[in-house]
Amino acid sequence: MRKKIAVFASGFGSNLQALIDFNTTGDLGGDIVLVFSNESKAFALKRAEKHKIRSAFIDPSGFASRQDFEVEILKILKEEKIDLIVLAGYMFLLTPLLIGEYRNRILNIHPALLPSFEGTHGIKDAFEYGVRLSGVTVHFVDEELDRGPIIMQAPVFIGQDDSLDNFEEKIHQVEHKIYPQAVKLFCGDRLRIKGRKVEILPE
Ligand code: GRF
Repeated sequence: MRKKIAVFASGFGSNLQALIDFNTTGDLGGDIVLVFSNESKAFALKRAEKHKIRSAFIDPSGFASRQDFEVEILKILKEEKIDLIVLAGYMFLLTPLLIGEYRNRILNIHPALLPSFEGTHGIKDAFEYGVRLSGVTVHFVDEELDRGPIIMQAPVFIGQDDSLDNFEEKIHQVEHKIYPQAVKLFCGDRLRIKGRKVEILPE
């Protein structure tokens, strides 16, 4: 059965675009049927409209708690019979409610090699620390921020002459390559979580 995918994004949505493009030239094994945002101005919503994908914005400030906000999100996810949530630059913390409802069915991409440089500034933090090697991590989401079981990692080297801008550009290029691969593995039922480790099953 093809998976129904919801992409959550708060901003530019270049990873969303990479997933959409992958499904044009290849096959994720699932369809992006919903793009959700907590930001009305997120460019990701425009991308969804352009590709005739349902877009949904809900303003979190209209709710007494993050749980109440998620109850509304869950209604849309149920309506669309979503199998997988892909976080792509979603800058709003999930609560145990949504994480529990979608246990082992939420993926996130982080622009550093976890567990190094967790948090919202993974690219800048790695660059300023002076590491020679950073990269990208795709992981399952659990209750601990940036700590869920790791599906895939890819390296990005920081050269002597790299500026923060071109290092960032290199990170994004790698993200756009590996996120679709990880989503495809999920959609093909090829990921098995064993404790902290994720086993990739053969085709
Ligand atoms: C990416 O760098 C991703 O790793 C991080 O947020 C950024 C989102 O970029 N979680 P975009 O909105 O997909 O262009």
